[in-house]
Amino acid sequence: MAPAEPAVAAATTTTATLPPPPHFVLVPFVAQGHIIPLVDLARLLAERGARASVVTTPLNVARLRGVAEQAARVGLPLELVELPFPPPGSGLPDDCQNADMVADNYQFLPFFFALPELAGPFEAYVRALATRPSCIIADWCNPWTAGVAKSLGIPRLFFHGPSCFFSLCDLQAANHGLHERIAAGGDEDQHAVPEVPVPVTVTKATAPGFLNHPATEVLRDEAMEAMRTADGVVVNTFLDLEAQFIACYEAALGTPVWVVGPLSLCNRDVESTASRGKTAAAGRQQAITAWLDEQAPGSVVFVSFGSITRKLPRQLFEIGHGLEYSGRPFIWVVKEPEAAAPEVREWLEALEARTAGRGLVVRGWAPQLAVLSHRAVGGFVTHCGWNSLLESIAHGVPVVTWPHFADQFLNEQLAVSVLGVGVPVGVTAPVMIFDDDTVAVPREDVVRAVSTLMGGGAEADGRRRKAKEYAEKARRAMEKGGSSYENLTQLIESFRQSGGKEG
Ligand SMILES: *[C@@H]1O[C@H](CO)[C@@H](O)[C@H](O)[C@H]1NC(C)=O
Repeated sequence: MAPAEPAVAAATTTTATLPPPPHFVLVPFVAQGHIIPLVDLARLLAERGARASVVTTPLNVARLRGVAEQAARVGLPLELVELPFPPPGSGLPDDCQNADMVADNYQFLPFFFALPELAGPFEAYVRALATRPSCIIADWCNPWTAGVAKSLGIPRLFFHGPSCFFSLCDLQAANHGLHERIAAGGDEDQHAVPEVPVPVTVTKATAPGFLNHPATEVLRDEAMEAMRTADGVVVNTFLDLEAQFIACYEAALGTPVWVVGPLSLCNRDVESTASRGKTAAAGRQQAITAWLDEQAPGSVVFVSFGSITRKLPRQLFEIGHGLEYSGRPFIWVVKEPEAAAPEVREWLEALEARTAGRGLVVRGWAPQLAVLSHRAVGGFVTHCGWNSLLESIAHGVPVVTWPHFADQFLNEQLAVSVLGVGVPVGVTAPVMIFDDDTVAVPREDVVRAVSTLMGGGAEADGRRRKAKEYAEKARRAMEKGGSSYENLTQLIESFRQSGGKEG
């Protein structure tokens, strides 16, 4: 629900007397999975006439060069703003400005604890603006923005990247002391998440959460506090996918929930689809598309595990063998650091030789949206990061679910049990950012899950049909008159009133 006053006032004012368009300042958490949807949101806001400024670290600004140039060419009021990072004395290397540049588990905590120091430069940037921004939209993981917004009297929304299903479970878990009960219980205990509209159970290993590591609990507490004091939340989902969870979340939070997704669908042309997040190496996009063009419709399984986790050789080999023995055409994304060791490089080359014409291994960044939107792709083996899962659903592609951490185990439950578009690979425990040397998923499980997903039969057909139906509903949600399109209109109109004041 919209805060009634501003929205109604704006709707009944004639165009001639409308206050100027609002200015939104967006502050993504510095990880690809968090930056990508907020940059999409910035683009959408700018396309609808609002001014949008994305504030991030220099490395991320450089990566987003393509987006900024494209916006400038078509005259969109979208700008990127650089804040210096890492702060002096943090002990972090200069290029450690995005979670995917964190070299090992030991750099992780210094990285997290350096981020709140962005508050100073951020406040300086906002104070230097000629007019106060109308609204700050900051990632849930950036609670340090709350103090700045408060001291400058600027409304603040939080953006939470996961599914509404996850966010609701996480909020109810906090409201009802579930984390304490889980901590006190045994490893195998199943716990029901209270006050959600479908039965959800979690274990100690799969319990919901971000920043749940004992060392980051203080950050988690700050994030929860910033969530409770925000003026509302923007979520990347759509009404027809998660209506019952959206309604409950809004009731539990007591603030407006602006539902504006799937944000990935704002990338409508080849250029923006290919350069989303990061520009892939020249020629890679064309090579992948040319390869996909040769494959039968719906025949290819796409395999990619997001931007953060890294798999060690033993697990990589199991995945490779699984894909080989599944007999299905595949595109498999292996990250540069994963493929760096000579033994892995050689092994991958041998795999490509054995599966020539049927298997394609992409080393490094792949233009995921371009792949998922190709008609040859019929399945996606995903870590269940919400961007990936929602992009898959928005393109009608059913999934094999292989969650790793954070919201991903609950996203898996949503995909498999609620939406009926997923086949679980069968993991029951999280891995840290850097995979340990145990093999979580042996090749047989990869073969079984991929064959189940890509094969025939009523269940497989049912998953494909449901995914296609959701894709159609997603497309309609983002069109003029659709629920997400209209929520975005409401969002802009609600903050038109608070824009334009002298700074
Ligand atoms: C978003 O759209 C839905 C459906 O049109 C509506 O019920 C809801 O109130 C809107 N939310 C906001 C915050 O405007």
